[in-house]
Amino acid sequence: MSTPWWQQGVIYQIYPRSFQDTDGDGVGDLKGIELRLDYLAGLGVDAIWISPIYPSPMVDFGYDVADYCAIDPLFGTLEDFDRLLATAHARGLKVILDFVPNHSSDRHAWFLESRVSRNNPKRDWFLWRDPAPGGGPPNNWISDFGGPAWTWDEATGQYYYHAFLKEQPDLNWRNPRLRQAMYDVLRFWLDRGVDGFRVDVLWHMIKAADFRDNPINPSYRPSMGEMHRVLQHNSTDQPEVHEIAREMRRLTDQYSERLLIGEIYLPVERVMDYYGNNLDEVHLPFNFQLIDAAWNARNLVSLIARYEDALPAGGWPNWVLSNHDRPRIAARLGQKQARVAALLLLTLRGTPTVYYGDELGLDDAAIPRDRVRDPRELREPDLGLGRDPQRTPMPWDGSPNAGFTRSEPWLPLNADWRERNIEALERDACSILNLYRRLLALRRTHRTLSVGDISLLKTQGDTLAYERRSGDTRLLVALNLGGTPQFVSLPSWARGGKVLLSTLDGSAIGQDSNLVLRPDEGVIIAPANSYT
Ligand code: NOJ
Repeated sequence: MSTPWWQQGVIYQIYPRSFQDTDGDGVGDLKGIELRLDYLAGLGVDAIWISPIYPSPMVDFGYDVADYCAIDPLFGTLEDFDRLLATAHARGLKVILDFVPNHSSDRHAWFLESRVSRNNPKRDWFLWRDPAPGGGPPNNWISDFGGPAWTWDEATGQYYYHAFLKEQPDLNWRNPRLRQAMYDVLRFWLDRGVDGFRVDVLWHMIKAADFRDNPINPSYRPSMGEMHRVLQHNSTDQPEVHEIAREMRRLTDQYSERLLIGEIYLPVERVMDYYGNNLDEVHLPFNFQLIDAAWNARNLVSLIARYEDALPAGGWPNWVLSNHDRPRIAARLGQKQARVAALLLLTLRGTPTVYYGDELGLDDAAIPRDRVRDPRELREPDLGLGRDPQRTPMPWDGSPNAGFTRSEPWLPLNADWRERNIEALERDACSILNLYRRLLALRRTHRTLSVGDISLLKTQGDTLAYERRSGDTRLLVALNLGGTPQFVSLPSWARGGKVLLSTLDGSAIGQDSNLVLRPDEGVIIAPANSYT
């Protein structure tokens, strides 16, 4: 059987507000993405995942959906979308949409109906409950953005539940009609030709039927954000969610080669459950471990080994370094290790997701207080939980507003945009952008890097090394995770081999039995006798 595209491919996440504006309103749009498809094809990625583009009041920037089957005028029209899809396909790029099934916007027609009266047919499409016996919210659940997860509706005398903002009421997936309506949404986009979905907060979709309190978190500290006051044992990750994942998968499988990715922030063993007992749930439950990982060799070795061990037979791995909700990789590790991280992301076994701008080494931007837009930061300021810093506009060139827009961008640009923009980095052979290009090109030439097996090698000091292998082809990847030179003892087959790529300039590396890695260097080595 041939390897599905999403096992060999690299996914690129686009935050559409920040990618490319064409109509001059300071916010990116679909025509902008279309305009930049050549850049993406040239970069060497295989698929784009676009964060939500549906009509929305934008209280949570599109994750509050007011109509699941249309495009917000801010981003364009359905015709623009169809053209984008066709143009992407013509360039060999797949298109993955963000599906937001856990909650809608409070302006969605379904919710407007639902709140009209207690006996409205749509009442049960959302989660309405009476006050607790002594008054007040039905239980102790807390919104992920801080504050109670229940909002009182005066007109009908009940509370509704929202895992996020009060403008994002949770949908009731125990209601069969709601389920069918949401499955129609999937069909609507699949019929148009989209190649798959990233399913937003999949593990939140079903709550304990009796809505019992969540246990108090004994390790809570205020700096974590209020949501961590309780452990979300009863509000998330319920057994019945797997039935929904299976249904979504059955539906998706009626179309050819479509992909389901699940957003799941859970400990690794529980993430694995979302592959399904018979690999019949999502193809890729997002693996976010590198996002928070302590960046040292011992930790990364055990994290990779544990993940590989935990995967169900036939379950395909995947790796993520950054996304629109978490600090960027360059902000966490600095520019030097951001290059090493790129090598890691693109050479581990499994499908990588690259967050737009990480290929430029974009840092988190400092956002002046009067330009904060993220509801997370506005509700719980100064805890470092705000997400604006990692959502800033893509700097394309050195022209005004970095070629992103003709007017004021919705968020400030990265402070160093005059030097750190695509046009400038393209000209610099050693830039991180060209490193990404080379890595992506190598993945294409060497299928071993995308679909080969992996085995971790024993190393000393702050180094990580692994072998990738398919059939007789072997490649060695070695990374220095720190700022001092390190030795890696090479397996005999790699001695005297050829350095296919170094994250640093040139490659003056001793390679008998010991490979010398310079500070912050990572390399890919092919055996001397290979035809590479
Ligand atoms: C997860 C999304 O990634 C995040 O950006 C959003 O705020 C929440 N879901 C709520 O929809």
